[in-house]
Amino acid sequence: MKVGILTSGGDAPGLNAVLRAVVRKGERVYGDTFVGFLDGYKGMLDREFVGLDVERCRGFLPKGGTALGTSRLSPYQVDNGVQRARAEFDRLGLDALVVVGGEGSLSVARKLHEDVSMPIVGVPKTIDNDLYGTDVTFGFHTAVQIATEAIDRLHTTAESHDRVMVVELMGRHAGWIATYAGIAGGASEILIPEDPFDIEEVCDRLRRRHERGRLASIVVVAEGALPKEGTMDMPSTEQDGYGHIRLGGISNIIGAEIEKRTGFDTRVTILGHVQRGGTPTAYDRVLATRYGLAAIDAVHAGAFNHMVALNGGEIQHIPLTEATSQLKTVDKDLFGGVAGIFFGS
Ligand code: F6P
Repeated sequence: MKVGILTSGGDAPGLNAVLRAVVRKGERVYGDTFVGFLDGYKGMLDREFVGLDVERCRGFLPKGGTALGTSRLSPYQVDNGVQRARAEFDRLGLDALVVVGGEGSLSVARKLHEDVSMPIVGVPKTIDNDLYGTDVTFGFHTAVQIATEAIDRLHTTAESHDRVMVVELMGRHAGWIATYAGIAGGASEILIPEDPFDIEEVCDRLRRRHERGRLASIVVVAEGALPKEGTMDMPSTEQDGYGHIRLGGISNIIGAEIEKRTGFDTRVTILGHVQRGGTPTAYDRVLATRYGLAAIDAVHAGAFNHMVALNGGEIQHIPLTEATSQLKTVDKDLFGGVAGIFFGS
């Protein structure tokens, strides 16, 4: 078969490991050839692609980022984009397309299948871990590891200065990174989009900690965290060129409020894209490899309009319609029953 592959949306550690696995099994087991589109769907529209083979993928396993480049451009945002993408698929004589992406990119894949019968297999990627239908997306584990290391470092400086350290982590719709890194890093507060916070209650718990002699506190904030209505003013949001709301910075407001209301010396750290860069953890390398191998198997099984997924330790295929039907938000038991036990303590 001749198979196209693209990486789309925000990058995530493990993208190159997926490419390597798809190509290794495709070439060696099935005799496939590969075309890698550059910068996601944009490469299909602009006819920008490279040949991918086993030799070209050497050294990919530990490399962060994506050798193909990525963007958030969707063919649905461009005049005749859908027809142009289908025409490029046909012109290159492709039999299938593997799309490595998060919820946005896989929703586009589902629509391309529905609208122009593009035979697509999806691979679940996002550091945010908010894709439905899979226990975990690759990239998440690495982001949590980086965030936990940052929190560990903030603990020692917080303790030296008796400060409140507010640390903002990625997670626009779901607070998975904040919850996991907050648990692993021993945060005394974790604020996530799924559970709107009341700043006065947060300050109260910090005050009680101080009364017990705990003068340093770590407050982890997911970038998409929201105050309970009417409890705190929020700045208006901006969009990037793809209609994607630009988040990042809520912790500055939270930090200032904490300092104003409690009088505790407070500092803010926004970890940002450090969470997405660099080498994947061993866990993400293995997961990305398993996903890549399963994706090329799915192509040969004709399991189009499906996404490979990890469920209960097993790799499965689930329909893209299911994977994109809703977001996977943080489990209430994990947040309340695990993380929450340590809040304010
Ligand atoms: O969707 C993944 C993600 O890392 C989000 O956590 C974050 O809000 C967003 O991408 C950042 O996007 P950009 O790289 O365009 O700033």
